[in-house]
Amino acid sequence: MNDTATLRGDYRNIGPDYAVWQDWDAYTPEQHALYRRLYERQSALVPRLACPEFISALARLNAGAGIPRFDEVSKDLKAATGWVIVPVPGLVPDEVFFEHLANRRFPVTVWLRTPEEFDYIVEPDVFHDFFGHVPLLFDQHYADHMQEYGKGGLKALRLGGLKFLARLYWYTIEFGLTNTPAGVRAYGAGLLSSGGELSYAVESPQPARRPFELMTVMRSSYRIDAYQDQYFVIDGFAHLLRETAPDFTPLYAQLVAEQGGANA
Ligand code: PHE
Ligand code: CO
Repeated sequence: MNDTATLRGDYRNIGPDYAVWQDWDAYTPEQHALYRRLYERQSALVPRLACPEFISALARLNAGAGIPRFDEVSKDLKAATGWVIVPVPGLVPDEVFFEHLANRRFPVTVWLRTPEEFDYIVEPDVFHDFFGHVPLLFDQHYADHMQEYGKGGLKALRLGGLKFLARLYWYTIEFGLTNTPAGVRAYGAGLLSSGGELSYAVESPQPARRPFELMTVMRSSYRIDAYQDQYFVIDGFAHLLRETAPDFTPLYAQLVAEQGGANA
């Protein structure tokens, strides 16, 4: 999926697992200030629009002063749920990504968007990866789910099911909504890190909000360059874990028969 030659980011010093050193001292004051502005905008939206697990994890993280030091956050995260952050130059090959997740390591991009990209960015940067994904790794259910997802990814690669598993990832981990006692709220990282799509997804009358149904999700293609026209709503992380726990082998076989494979 990812031809690293065409990707944004510096891939010259990667290890075999694509890990790099987070050269924290190399971030400029302007970059920290830009990160802070992104953080302030998003954290102001969170009380109204994010799921409760994200709200409490974000408060506990207290990482709004600038681009976080991954090694410090990893210490807390390791103690909480056994996860660590792995600094990466940008997108990594699918197999590398899944291998990290399967071992409770979350890859986080080291570079930050430019000021011109304040409102919208297609490729994940450090703000998306950190603000969107890391807080929920403090939640036990979510943390376990991400590891299962990683193992499931390695399996999907073997079975030609990646296209379908990628849709599940998209509509849950990136753009998922959940029912809460207070109403529908966001837990997907693509929403939580987005200035515009977060309130659109939760509050706008425009998009469809459909109850999560595994096969429907895996049959639904998506766009990466526009707000979604549909979202899928889970009933909490325990529900998501239950729904994704069964063996996907026969499901992939059925989907490939219907729609053609495979790993693209
Ligand atoms: N249960 C899936 C399988 O058997 C793996 C999986 C778990 C996928 C959790 C996504 C989330 O392939
Ligand atoms: Co993401």
